[in-house]
Amino acid sequence: MDIRFEKASTLKEKPDWKGALGFGKYMTDYMFTCDWDEGQGWHDARIEPIKPIELQPQSVVLHYAQETFEGLKAYRTAEGKIQLFRPEMNAKRMIKSNERLCMPAFPEEDFVQAVTEIVKVEKDWVPDEPDTSLYIRPFMFATEASLGVHMATSYKFIIICSPVGAYYPTGLDPVKILVEDELVRAVKGGTGFTKCGGNYAGSILGQVKAEEQGYTQVLWLDGEEKKYVEEVGTMNIMFKIAGEIYTAPIEGTVLPGVTRDSMLTILRDWGYKVHEEKTAIDTIMKAGHDGTLEEVFGTGTAAVISPVGELKYKDDVVVINDAKTGELTQKLYDTLTGIQWGKIEDKYNWTIEV
Ligand code: COI
Repeated sequence: MDIRFEKASTLKEKPDWKGALGFGKYMTDYMFTCDWDEGQGWHDARIEPIKPIELQPQSVVLHYAQETFEGLKAYRTAEGKIQLFRPEMNAKRMIKSNERLCMPAFPEEDFVQAVTEIVKVEKDWVPDEPDTSLYIRPFMFATEASLGVHMATSYKFIIICSPVGAYYPTGLDPVKILVEDELVRAVKGGTGFTKCGGNYAGSILGQVKAEEQGYTQVLWLDGEEKKYVEEVGTMNIMFKIAGEIYTAPIEGTVLPGVTRDSMLTILRDWGYKVHEEKTAIDTIMKAGHDGTLEEVFGTGTAAVISPVGELKYKDDVVVINDAKTGELTQKLYDTLTGIQWGKIEDKYNWTIEV
């Protein structure tokens, strides 16, 4: 793919990497854009100064939410090198999301090239403070100006970047999670396995309800029986019960997380028995009360690994590991981030130098 480059006349001042970068507060100087039109396919790939997007008010995405996105990060190593973590997994997942939403595939090779090129251009935006990185957000949406519900005839694929710190203000301190027993996030045959904006729009009400009760996030149950644990709004979730790991299977309703897959690989390597199977919320709460629920943690690109210190389901509350970060959670965090920041040998070949 040929990528045209348009230089910015001025560059923004960078924030203090030592300050509270937060998540998605600051945007870098450039964006990657590529257009798709029926009969022409992908064309006009370019890296240009970041700017507002012009859309007709009747554009399909604004009415029918034909939109998908991804999230990955670039990390600066102690030697000053920059590396990406498994970008091909994001490329593949986006192709699957797009298939479900009737959107064109952006080819895997071009995706990895586009991500690599924008990170090269924005190399000075990759922070070097502990626990910081450059978050990369590829997204695609239907631009066709028409009110008919159909597969659109034009799309845009864009990549923007943002230097970030921890996703949750609490950092690696445990979060409190409310189990949602009324609303549902996904059902078989729906879009639960995709990373589409609509999934997140539908989850905000649950999030608001949780926050009203003093909880940080929502744990979604399956959409049919509201019985089995599935995922948290922004991450997959894992439970350590009596020394074994339980997490929801990838069967169409749960996001196939890159961090999830990496954690499961590491855990199996360490000899843990991993159950990717339906687990009832009742089983989790019971384990919480009989002392066998040893650790609970969420996994995701933005959140990395997030310990869960408390779960509330209906009127029942369990506190996990005295609301402290568990030993395994900490070890997984150190190992994964050690690989990502180049402090630990990457025996899995997950990182790619930019
Ligand atoms: C990510 O982990 O990259 C995500 O996309 C979660 C996001 C919705 C904050």
